[in-house]
Amino acid sequence: MGDWNRTHSCGELRTAAAGSMVTLMGWVDRRRDFGNLVFVDLRDRRGITQVVIRSDASPSLMEKSKQIRSEFVLGVRGKVRLRSPETVNPVLNTGEIEVVAEEIKILNVAKTPPFPVNEDSQGSEDMRLKYRYLDLRRARLQKNILLRHQVTLDIRQYLSDRDFAEVETPVLTKSTPEGARDYLVPSRLHPGKFFALPQSPQLFKQLLMVSGFDKYFQVVRCFRDEDLRADRQPEFTQVDIEMSFVRPQSIFELVEPMMATVFSRIGVSVKLPFPRLPYVEAMKRYGTDKPDMRFAMELVDVSDQFADSEFGPFREAVSSGGCVKGMVVDGGETFSRSQMDGLTEFVRQFGAPGLAWVKHGSEIKSSLPKTVSVSEMEKILAKAGSEKGSILLLVGGSYRMVAESLGALRLHIAHRQDLIPKDRFHFVWIHDFPLMEYDEREKKYSPCHHPFTSPVDSDLELLASNPEKVRAKAYDLVLNGMEIGGGSIRIHRQDVQRRVFQVLGYEDEEAQRKFGFFLEALQYGTPPHGGIALGLDRILMLLADEKSIRDVIAFPKTARATCLMTDSPSEVGPEQLKELHLRIEK
Ligand code: AMO
Repeated sequence: MGDWNRTHSCGELRTAAAGSMVTLMGWVDRRRDFGNLVFVDLRDRRGITQVVIRSDASPSLMEKSKQIRSEFVLGVRGKVRLRSPETVNPVLNTGEIEVVAEEIKILNVAKTPPFPVNEDSQGSEDMRLKYRYLDLRRARLQKNILLRHQVTLDIRQYLSDRDFAEVETPVLTKSTPEGARDYLVPSRLHPGKFFALPQSPQLFKQLLMVSGFDKYFQVVRCFRDEDLRADRQPEFTQVDIEMSFVRPQSIFELVEPMMATVFSRIGVSVKLPFPRLPYVEAMKRYGTDKPDMRFAMELVDVSDQFADSEFGPFREAVSSGGCVKGMVVDGGETFSRSQMDGLTEFVRQFGAPGLAWVKHGSEIKSSLPKTVSVSEMEKILAKAGSEKGSILLLVGGSYRMVAESLGALRLHIAHRQDLIPKDRFHFVWIHDFPLMEYDEREKKYSPCHHPFTSPVDSDLELLASNPEKVRAKAYDLVLNGMEIGGGSIRIHRQDVQRRVFQVLGYEDEEAQRKFGFFLEALQYGTPPHGGIALGLDRILMLLADEKSIRDVIAFPKTARATCLMTDSPSEVGPEQLKELHLRIEK
């Protein structure tokens, strides 16, 4: 760079600067050569400025302008001048001026990039991830990453203003169960022993309450080896919060204005307080514990109407303890046969044997057998709240299967029929989750949240006799059908924690081995406490209106949990394996 200093960014110059000498530095976004006139769009993260190299420039400058290619790094010295009215570019902040180059330094050359950096849509995702540093030059990703910075700052400020302290917890630690597999790190100094990367700082934040920190938070990386989806990464960031002497209400009152602050960053005004929906009701009305409530199309229970029906499969679904539920789709009377076949295929993925339908037109048509009379169907439609022009879609079977298939179908149809209003943010707290559920495959109970969640006081006595009926003091925050946070009031009594471990099938020895340090700590004056963790990446994905959390993470992993840029995970040499006391079995 010699003795050059940058005087302005590429997004800064306006008409007031006309006539002044400036020095800009940045990347070549585009170069256009008209023979006697060369235009270079110079880009940095703050914008683009047009640089002109005129025919009357010195021969050496003209010569240099011919060498310049996309993504070269340049220093440009020149004079700012106003563009003529017909050449003003309203798309650029700097579109009213240009810089007439007097001197150019090629600070570095660049190979031809594998995809054009200046065109947003080009390049397969694999290619973009392999060359992530080039993808990150693009305006969209830069905007997302800078939004992330701003939001994180807002959250830290918000919590700090309310007397929360950010405390760092270890990354090399012992397993914290959050329902996923652990990433393990072998110990060189202790053969055969491993650290686990934290699935969350759950136990440490509880221990900080034992220590009397009272109000803790941390913007913290968590690691989970689980199946990935568009809203999941193997390493992701939580805004982790814990407080002493609180009830769920205190957590809601803390988080709601925090969300309002964060969403005001994108100009959205969030209505407070957020609605609350008990888990049981969410499952009943939406078939899921993360309902997208931006649109209606709620599920209706028509089991009573089929209890004595001539239609065997539905009658049996009810008599065997299951249900028949349905969903009215406005305008669905015109669904074609092939559309219905598609919907039937869709629900089959969730174990539904089929999808019955009743079309509510000037006459009633149905897939139900003729033995179900028109007057019966009229009653069913009335119960479902159907109006003319609609279709009622029905599934019968176990509660779980019916909820899963109709819950998914509700979303599927809403997307296809474009029923979801844009730019709407619908928050809802789901609360009173069951404490645990029976896992048929594992033949044991597993916690719905994590094993440190407190049962509802009045349900404690059911713990031994009917664990599935025990409700938890747990809550999730759901936004537009996505779980963006989850938390609970914790167990603070050691005897209760031991009882919960027992019901979850931990032998005393196993509980001691895994959580002995924690059970011990609970005996030294543990205050009642609770908290929540918010998924920062998911919140950003919604703020930035992106379809994948990869687009709000600077260096994300692929859906197969790999990093294409660094080519990791990767093999290690025999020496390193030996040092770690590991042997790879092919
Ligand atoms: P939970 O497991 O519900 O709770 O996680 C909290 C929030 O973190 C986000 N999240 C993820 N985001 C991206 N990729 C993932 N793989 C991923 N997994 C979870 C979700 C989720 O709501 N210790 C408890 C919190 C507590 O009880 O205070 C916990 O981790 O948005």
